[in-house]
Amino acid sequence: MAVVAKERLKSPRARLFVALDLPDELREGIVAWGREALADPALRPLAPESLHITLAFLGYRPEKETERIAAVVRERVGPAPWVELLDPEQRPPRGRARLYALPALSPGVEALQEGVAQGLAAEGFYEPEKRPFWPHVTVARVRPEGRGSRRPAVLASPPGKLPEGMSEARVCRRMTLYRSELQPTGARYVPLAQVELP
Ligand code: 2AM
Repeated sequence: MAVVAKERLKSPRARLFVALDLPDELREGIVAWGREALADPALRPLAPESLHITLAFLGYRPEKETERIAAVVRERVGPAPWVELLDPEQRPPRGRARLYALPALSPGVEALQEGVAQGLAAEGFYEPEKRPFWPHVTVARVRPEGRGSRRPAVLASPPGKLPEGMSEARVCRRMTLYRSELQPTGARYVPLAQVELP
C-alpha cells in the first residue's frame, strides 16, 4: 500500500534529450547507404527521423520542467555547426557490438554541446557525464541473440564504409528537445521544442 501511495505522489516524468538534427539530404543518404550496409538481419536500423547527434541526455525529468528546459535550450543557441561524418564504428569497441554509429568530426558541435550542457547543468536539469563527449549518429542497434537474452547477436556482415561524398561537411541548422518513448519495437522520439541555429 505504502508503495502505491508513493507512486501516486510522484509527478509524471518524461525521458528527455537534446539533439542536433541532421539535414534531410544527409538522413536520406544514411538511409540509402544503410539499405545494403545495415541489411544484416541481426541489425535494427534507425528510422530516418531518429537519426541525430545527441548533445545531452537528461534521463527522466518531471514533465512540468519541460518548458523551462526548452527555454534553456533556446538561450543556448549557437552558430549552426558544420559536421563531417566518418565510417561506422561499433560500440562497445571490442567484443560483440551493441550498436553501430557514425562518429562526427565537428568543433562546432562540441562548442554547441558545451553551451547546452552547461546551461542545463546550471539549472539543475542535467548532470554532465564524466566521460568525454563523443559526437556520433547511431545508425543501427544489434538485436538480442535470442528471445529473452540480453546478449547481442553476432553479425554475419558488419556495416562497411560510407560512400565517397557522404563524409563531406554539411551544416546542421536545427537543435531539438526530444521526448523518448520506450516501446517494445524500439524507442520513438517525439520533438517537444525546436530551435533554428543562425
Ligand atoms: P545512442 O544513440 O548513442 O544510444 C535517446 O536515447 C538518445 O540519447 C540516443 O541517441 C542515445 O544515444 C542518447 N543517450 C545518451 N546517453 C544515454 C543513456 N545513458 N541512456 C539512453 N540514451 C542515451
